[in-house]
Amino acid sequence: MLFKTLASAVFYGRFARAFSALGYRQAARGFSATPFDLTGQRWLVTGASGGIGKAIALEANRLGAQVVAVARSKNKLDALVSEASAPERLGIEVCDLSSLEAISDWVGRFQSSASGPVDVLVNNVGVLLNQFVLTDEGIEQSLATNLLGPVLLTRRLLSEGGLSTDSTVINVSSGGMYATPLELDSMIAPDPQHFDGVRAYALHKRAQVVWTHHWNSVHPKGPVMQVMHPGWVDTEGVKTSLPGFRKVMKPILRTPIEGADTVLWLGAQRPAPPKEGIWLDRAVQPEHAFSMTKKTRVSVEDLVAYLDEALAKFL
Ligand SMILES: NC(=O)c1ccc[n+]([C@@H]2O[C@H](COP(=O)([O-])OP(=O)(O)OC[C@H]3O[C@@H](n4cnc5c(N)ncnc54)[C@H](OP(=O)(O)O)[C@@H]3O)[C@@H](O)[C@H]2O)c1
Repeated sequence: MLFKTLASAVFYGRFARAFSALGYRQAARGFSATPFDLTGQRWLVTGASGGIGKAIALEANRLGAQVVAVARSKNKLDALVSEASAPERLGIEVCDLSSLEAISDWVGRFQSSASGPVDVLVNNVGVLLNQFVLTDEGIEQSLATNLLGPVLLTRRLLSEGGLSTDSTVINVSSGGMYATPLELDSMIAPDPQHFDGVRAYALHKRAQVVWTHHWNSVHPKGPVMQVMHPGWVDTEGVKTSLPGFRKVMKPILRTPIEGADTVLWLGAQRPAPPKEGIWLDRAVQPEHAFSMTKKTRVSVEDLVAYLDEALAKFL
């Protein structure tokens, strides 16, 4: 308990300024004032009915892109269309992205009616769950949503022509990943009796970073994959999953559009992906902040082998 409290104090002390709205607003002083022009681009954004995903979808639409927004709630997606600057360029798709079968079926349907590869895929969907829940496929729900679903979606889109070598995939990770090294056993099979949703989430988000760099090493000609984190953003997800954190931090949480900024910038500017590191506020930051997260007993190959095995039936 004492260790956990101390670890939290170190974590928040280290990141409070950079991850809050203070960090964003400081960084934004150096941003160009020229608006992005996404005219002619096709974007596919997951988890787009609320929070950061909604901000990404609406802003990409406003900046000229054709956007497909994916989430579970048809009502929330309908509301998204009513808020869009150009509703004729905003498509909505209902899919439970924690279900591997649903993703697999959806990609097949989407690709059969698609007019070509998307320019930008934003793997934004992500959840931090405080309860241990298994999906119908027997996978812990946040693992399915945060890691297995996005990996399956990306790989299936690639194999079915939904991504080209010119496409960019943007994975939305989290600064929470700074708390942990890559670990597989506790990520794949968390103890249901002592489930720690914050730790599970950190493990998924660390794995996303490792997977991103691996992807670029095996796809040198593209599609390019980027991994970023949005900082601390005031969203429904934070309100539900981390009510205590939100209560204390609310005055300095970022707005969803501030959290969305680096995704929009990456999609508009298409910088080369770094071999290491994670984007925050349009700049690459180290992917380790504490030496203990560099020490791991598992390798990127172990992670890839796990992903291959877990997704084999759907690839
Ligand atoms: N907010 C932060 O401070 C923060 C910090 C670091 C990283 N992030 C990351 O940023 C991303 C977005 O976070 P957020 O705070 O905006 O989340 P949020 O407010 O909880 O919104 C999540 C979105 O994902 C959708 N969603 C959830 N489960 C889904 C599923 N199984 N299938 C399809 N859609 C699903 C939700 O819509 P439906 O209910 O309609 O499905 C909603 O549109 C996540 O990857 C998160 O880890 C957020």
